Amino acid sequence: MNTLQEQIITQTALWQQAIACVNTHHQLEELRIKFIGKKGILQALFDQLGECSVDQKRLCGPLLNGFKKECEAALKEKKIALATNSVSTQTTFDVTAYTPEQLEGSLHPYSHFITEVQNIFLSMGFELLDGPEVETDYHNFTALNIPGDHPARDMYDTFWLNTPSMLMRTHTSTVQMRAMKEKKLPLAGICTGRVFRHEAVDASHDHTFFQCEGILIDKNVTLAHLFGVIKEFLQALFGSDSLAIRTRPGFFPFVEPGVEIDMQCPFCTTGCSTCKKTRWIEVFPGGMIHPNVLEEAGIDPTVYSGFAFGFGLTRLAMLRYGIKDIRMLSNGKVKFLKNFT
Ligand code: DAH
Repeated sequence: MNTLQEQIITQTALWQQAIACVNTHHQLEELRIKFIGKKGILQALFDQLGECSVDQKRLCGPLLNGFKKECEAALKEKKIALATNSVSTQTTFDVTAYTPEQLEGSLHPYSHFITEVQNIFLSMGFELLDGPEVETDYHNFTALNIPGDHPARDMYDTFWLNTPSMLMRTHTSTVQMRAMKEKKLPLAGICTGRVFRHEAVDASHDHTFFQCEGILIDKNVTLAHLFGVIKEFLQALFGSDSLAIRTRPGFFPFVEPGVEIDMQCPFCTTGCSTCKKTRWIEVFPGGMIHPNVLEEAGIDPTVYSGFAFGFGLTRLAMLRYGIKDIRMLSNGKVKFLKNFT
């Protein structure tokens, strides 16, 4: 058996070799356990030190302590290097393999469209809001004045998670309560994002699509402000300052009164297949935020009022780009996507 001193020197050399070869967190952990784990090499050496003579201890004690410190410092250093990716890995990626001319790809039509929608609202002073796609029953329904037994829940058949009361959001209206509770008044914001419904898929329905929700809350806000904002938005989007809107009453539990806003068909003057020869296209549901919803967010409905709207971003994108089948937006067909460079 080597002397303890020789063993320490040998193990130090082995450690130094091993730590230099570590490329992953997993390898690092294995090495840590092997050397400084409870039943590791260092502990075995310390056990031997305990059995040594006083002279041996005087010689080997500092050596062993030095080795321990070296292990701990190197582990720490390597952990940081791995986390910041500055360790050279064995897998190589040849950055010269492709020239820019060989690269294919373009922004998805959704990316183009969402940016355009956001820019129009940003130019009107709205801020961008965000919320999770996996939501609570509370934000999707209850907070929006749709209690557990309300028949309006039938309009929003969704995907429930195994975790109780958690679901894939059915609309971007979920950001309403989040924004009202988090932000200060006055508040004007929009949220664009994915929503989910338990739908049979066909050319005009999908289980996953995009919506845009907007809210504006201040003192003395009225429906006229809602109509003005929507008209301005549609005119900017379709590049026409004469595009008209018309309004009809509509029911949504979280607004009172609720409205449906239609836009004049931007594609024809006498009726076409897009507007089904009616000259009007149904686009925007909205209304004045229900006092129950404002109260739930801690906002006094006798002092503040606000409007909300929520439109099918997918549907508007399809109208805008003349996309006839909703499935084209998610099937990844390159031939289709190439039209949107
Ligand atoms: N969230 C509704 C839906 O998905 C749309 C909607 C209607 C949003 C009225 C609103 C609103 O903000 O006021 O069917």
